[in-house]
Amino acid sequence: MEVVRVFVAGSIAFLVLSVLGEELTGLSPCNFPAIYNFGDSNSDTGGISAAFYPAGQPSGETFFHEPAGRGSDGRLIIDFIVKRLRLPYLSAYLDSIGASFRHGANFATGGSTIRQLNESFFVTGVSPFSLDIQIVQFDQFKTRTSNLYNQAKKHSHRRNLPRPQEFSKALYTFDIGQNDVAAGIRTMSNEQFRVVLPDIIDHLASAIQHLHEQGARTFWIHNTGPIGCLPVTQHYYHHPMPGILDQHGCLISQNEMAKEFNRQLKRRVTKLRAQLPGAALTYVDIFAAKYKLISNAKKQGFVDARSICCGYHEDYNHVWCGHKDKINGTEIYAGSCEDPSLYISWDGVHYTEAANHWIANHILNGSFTDPPVPITHACQKGQHV
Ligand SMILES: *[C@@H]1O[C@H](CO)[C@@H](O)[C@H](O)[C@H]1NC(C)=O
Ligand SMILES: *[C@@H]1O[C@H](CO)[C@@H](O)[C@H](O)[C@H]1NC(C)=O
Ligand SMILES: *[C@@H]1O[C@H](CO)[C@@H](O)[C@H](O)[C@H]1NC(C)=O
Repeated sequence: MEVVRVFVAGSIAFLVLSVLGEELTGLSPCNFPAIYNFGDSNSDTGGISAAFYPAGQPSGETFFHEPAGRGSDGRLIIDFIVKRLRLPYLSAYLDSIGASFRHGANFATGGSTIRQLNESFFVTGVSPFSLDIQIVQFDQFKTRTSNLYNQAKKHSHRRNLPRPQEFSKALYTFDIGQNDVAAGIRTMSNEQFRVVLPDIIDHLASAIQHLHEQGARTFWIHNTGPIGCLPVTQHYYHHPMPGILDQHGCLISQNEMAKEFNRQLKRRVTKLRAQLPGAALTYVDIFAAKYKLISNAKKQGFVDARSICCGYHEDYNHVWCGHKDKINGTEIYAGSCEDPSLYISWDGVHYTEAANHWIANHILNGSFTDPPVPITHACQKGQHV
């Protein structure tokens, strides 16, 4: 058993030897005791459902066999992350029923943006729990759970509380930005969006800096996915002009906005590595992972990436997954497809459990991350070797 790992000027030349099917990286895993997640519906495990209207049927049907506050038929990438780290599913901070925060909390809510957009949830679906609010909630969570923990007279009173000393050893994960890009698409030209992007990235960097001041050291930061490939978007373009779609049917200009967000985010993460002492920041190229899946759908055993499992989107009529509506005087229930495991898109916007599983398998071992470390080793920094 021999493992060689060489660090060159901050980048990692990485040699992994496989012995008896077991992957060795030469360094022991981080054993994260907890995860704190910040994000939107891509990683919401029940926040917006607890705060407003619960997710209804048929969401959750594949894995939880009932709606589980997730925008999918089953698990999300964050669920596969906790599984890989051998931790329990994350309770949503906003969920007061049956929650356990022993191993972390999830501050993500569907519709969240990085910047406050000052729009109503009831009009545009943008969540009032933007990233800065999620950070305020985290501060409150940390202070109040630590006080409760220290005051608890009985062991059983501590059961669902995080250990105060574990906050600094926890993994801090981010998957947010898609709704900022969506708002840009909705309200601005690409040029206008480029002008506001540095402010959006500043807000995300401030959140990371703030958590670092609070003792956080390990950050796992997803960039934003190919929003122009969301099948529902494509159903709003009936006779696309030549050249606006790429060879996989994705809207090029929308993906360009997401790519510009990602370029600026990546640059900022690199800068933060130099600015935050003792911090390990991993930048995760979710865009590349999702695009790889979409562009290889058939080869990976899925139907065409543009097909939607749950929802009715024909001609100019749209009935969202789980909803009913009258079309030409006939009531349509937009239910689920027969076999969600063959689809990439669950409801036109969110991914199926099968797709999330594929994406998780491809990012968690480090093949889409910078530096290329598996998530189990994300706490390690080059200079420590
Ligand atoms: C939202 O409102 C706040 C407070 O008025 C303001 O500071 C902020 O710039 C607004 N955000 C946007 C994106 O307009
Ligand atoms: C509704 O009517 C249009 C136009 O006649 C037709 O093309 C479409 O298939 C109809 N849709 C349903 C659900 O009956
Ligand atoms: C990571 O896992 C994926 C999916 O199993 C595989 O294709 C890829 O080669 C792996 N990468 C590394 C660096 O192990």
